[in-house]
Amino acid sequence: MTHSVDVSDKENSKTIISKYLQGQFSEHLGSGVYGGLWVGTDSDIPNTNGIRNDVVTALKKIDIPVLRWPGGFFADNYHWYEGIGPFEKRRRIINSSWGGKLETNAFGTHEYFELCRQLGCESYININFSSGSIKEMADWLEYMTAPAGSMADLRSKSGHPEPWNLHFLGIGNESWGGGGHMTPEFYSDRYKLWQSFVRQYNDKPFYKIGVGPNIDDFHWTDTVMKNAYEYMDGLSLHHYGLTDIWDNKGDAVEFQPKEWNSLLYSIQKMDYFITEHVKRMHRYDQNNRVKLIVDEWGDWLRAQAGTNPNFLRQQNTIRDAVMAATTLNIFAKHADSVYMANIAQMVNVLQSMILTKGSQMILTPTYYIFDMYKHHQDAQLLSAYSDNGDPLNYTISKKNNHYIISICNTNYEQSQNISIKFANKLGTPDYAKQLHADALNAHNTFDDPDNVKLKPFKDYSISMNNLKVNLADKSVITLAIPIIGDEL
Ligand code: AHR
Repeated sequence: MTHSVDVSDKENSKTIISKYLQGQFSEHLGSGVYGGLWVGTDSDIPNTNGIRNDVVTALKKIDIPVLRWPGGFFADNYHWYEGIGPFEKRRRIINSSWGGKLETNAFGTHEYFELCRQLGCESYININFSSGSIKEMADWLEYMTAPAGSMADLRSKSGHPEPWNLHFLGIGNESWGGGGHMTPEFYSDRYKLWQSFVRQYNDKPFYKIGVGPNIDDFHWTDTVMKNAYEYMDGLSLHHYGLTDIWDNKGDAVEFQPKEWNSLLYSIQKMDYFITEHVKRMHRYDQNNRVKLIVDEWGDWLRAQAGTNPNFLRQQNTIRDAVMAATTLNIFAKHADSVYMANIAQMVNVLQSMILTKGSQMILTPTYYIFDMYKHHQDAQLLSAYSDNGDPLNYTISKKNNHYIISICNTNYEQSQNISIKFANKLGTPDYAKQLHADALNAHNTFDDPDNVKLKPFKDYSISMNNLKVNLADKSVITLAIPIIGDEL
């Protein structure tokens, strides 16, 4: 089947694909932080201020725009003051959210901002809205962002006189579930109270994100928006891709073709959830000021054999890469209403970019999707498409006098053709990459780290303002094509 797309009349599009749609999430969960990111200054694993150099070097290449921390569930057990000051004095706690692992609090506020500095990304902190207090939240905000005052003095004593830049602030996590089993009425009243004590210490207001729905809980969205939308900038949505029901998660590697399809079906529901939640948000927020923030998404599969199931460590195959590309295309399709998204999670947990084992590290197929899609960050959207009956989905954007084209073929057996007509004459691509594998479950291991990786893409032709692409089965490509000459 050949798809024909005409974007020649889209040059005046005002929609920007927010770079934050490629955000990441790291939680104190399994080896998501300890071992995966933080090894400590005394470690034999090469590190800078306790953070592994190999992982940071790899992550820097995908231009991470923002990192959500410290949870997730863990955020509601996290007390920031236990994670500052000399390491030996920090309180050791049981991580009751995730498997009862000892939490040393070695990775705290200072280490998180140091990680953001090394990655060159912005910060997104989720405060403790369940077992914390308003005072604890207010003190933490003052500690992080005030230039002077009692909490700023404490920060200085702990080695960081300068305030940090904190823009994104999550007020609660899954308050409808593990974050407190609240009703939307109770949550929204409580949200209004807590947000009243979010004081600003610089001229950049916090971007306040309220807890939004779980998948298709439209009543939650309706109620929270009605009661509190004036007090928030974003409303979160969580949706994970599953192969079956929640209690019967499919294996990440040993799966049948039908589980490729069921996972695809599950992740494509994102399109429907966004459409339906945004519709309800606009009933109250008619100017589309409050954006949807999909701050947890990705494939949730069975934990790797031999690992603690509470640590959510899973392998990652070409199937996950195709799911990630499809999801990023869905976000681009809704770029007017979705401002940030954070894949769960960055290292060693769920659909990660990186897996580590001791001093070793491998990049996952999903990593390479982000490597290709980084070209769309803050680009002008020309067209984005995804439909659950169609094996092809794509994002076409314009940035720095280039057209950026990413196309995903979700069909694991058949190749697909697509032709795209642009307004301007096309030059020779200065970036043309593809991710493809023969086996349905192709993945990287510590013994074979380069089994799935980006390769040059050549199966295209260009004539004037027309591009023709042939996509192999289960593949994702990105082209960056310089625009030469004026509109035709
Ligand atoms: O990402 C793992 C967990 O999934 C998060 O901690 C929680 O918010 C969600 O249910």
